[in-house]
Amino acid sequence: MTSGPGARRIEVTQKLYIRTFGCQMNEYDSDKMADVLAASDGLALTDTPDDADVILFNTCSVREKAQERVFHDLGRVRALKAARPDVIIGVGGCVASQEGAAIVARAPYVDVVFGPQTLHRLPALIRARRESGAPQVDITFPAIEKFDHLPPPRVEGAAAFVSIMEGCSKYCSFCVVPYTRGEEVSRPLDDVLTEVADLADQGVRELTLLGQNVNAYRGTCSAEDDASGIADFAMLLDYVAEVPGLERIRYTTSHPKEMSARLVDAYRRVPKLVSQLHLPVQSGSDRVLAAMKRGYTALEYKSIVRRLRAARPGLSLSSDFIVGFPGETDADFEATLKLVDDVGFDGSFSFLYSARPGTPAADLPGAVPDDVKKARLARLQARLDAQYAAASQAMVGSRQRVLVTGHAARDRRELAARTDNNRVVNFAGDASLIGTYVDVVVTHALPHSLRADALR
Ligand code: SAM
Ligand code: F3S
Repeated sequence: MTSGPGARRIEVTQKLYIRTFGCQMNEYDSDKMADVLAASDGLALTDTPDDADVILFNTCSVREKAQERVFHDLGRVRALKAARPDVIIGVGGCVASQEGAAIVARAPYVDVVFGPQTLHRLPALIRARRESGAPQVDITFPAIEKFDHLPPPRVEGAAAFVSIMEGCSKYCSFCVVPYTRGEEVSRPLDDVLTEVADLADQGVRELTLLGQNVNAYRGTCSAEDDASGIADFAMLLDYVAEVPGLERIRYTTSHPKEMSARLVDAYRRVPKLVSQLHLPVQSGSDRVLAAMKRGYTALEYKSIVRRLRAARPGLSLSSDFIVGFPGETDADFEATLKLVDDVGFDGSFSFLYSARPGTPAADLPGAVPDDVKKARLARLQARLDAQYAAASQAMVGSRQRVLVTGHAARDRRELAARTDNNRVVNFAGDASLIGTYVDVVVTHALPHSLRADALR
């Protein structure tokens, strides 16, 4: 806003607050919402809703608890809206995608509802809300249009994320993602490579390729790259690895069914690929895996792991587990514990099964009682924690090359960095090292981080 000629010029920047629930995809999408609204309307991020002009909730509906927290938190900004009616309140992400206009019916102070694929339309939706006075809802899936309408990526530090595909077509019987984010759609190979090269030019050294199922990537490419006109994930990795300046490549999340022989072989071929992989297994019981419609048996999963570790000795694996799926017996659960022992994981996420309306598993008989589910989860987590602690302990005394990401959370005089296997390491060092790779020797293993000494 400017005042009259000759008067002092006063710029009033509108503020944006975003509350993010759920997975890394949502974290990524929230960054993109901030980018879009900064480019269109100059909105600047604030870390409190109290002084924000636009408040967005980027929601998750993978489990009931996450979904309920959204409505709880929405209730808390209701008073803000009553006090400052010009504030725009928006709901995006998976709950928005699933509930659509029902959100406005339940919370009439919500102004805009948008889905994961329509976040680039936020400026237009907010404008339409202000002009018409009516709530705006757009939860369509306009294929890959979003990426063509996003501003160029902003670089903050030496690590960055690039979304390479969206959605999921696996339809595991318990999961809402295919319904909320739509089917798998991949970005064209050249678009991804241009974005990666641009990031590397801006100083990015460590890249994470993102998607609900990155290894289901099938992006269009020129006939010179592949006669079929389609590049798979292994080919994408080969090209990304050639981008000068990048030192490490990560990706998440992947599906065991899409671990092709060429992708397994990438662990031989592509040294820049980190020695850490998140490969969700969900259960160690073939009966449960079949009911979940995962498309592999426990033996097949173990055989993939064996081939991966033959290609990359010492590969560290993390996973996702669900306990208490309908019909899961004690024997099924013991099979999960056995798989954990056989594979040896290094950090994992484990969840109580949560029935999601609209998914096939929600109609299955054989609900597991809550106390049984919780007891199983506690046993599984104890086993996974012990494996994680043992792997951390085994790193003590080892030399690690780490990317310095910033100051340590607890002590600003120390630095925080990430190892190849994605552990946080804290050590004494100069702030000028932030954004660079440093060699350290690990001195102590703590429950959630490591301590180290920098090598000079
Ligand atoms: N590819 C996805 C990702 O990016 O992580 C996986 C989908 S989901 C967002 C992540 C994890 O949530 C799944 O691997 C699964 O373990 C868990 N999950 C999904 N639906 C669930 C449900 N109904 N109850 C409990 N956990 C669930
Ligand atoms: Fe969900 Fe299974 Fe896809 S867990 S995201 S439907 S691979």
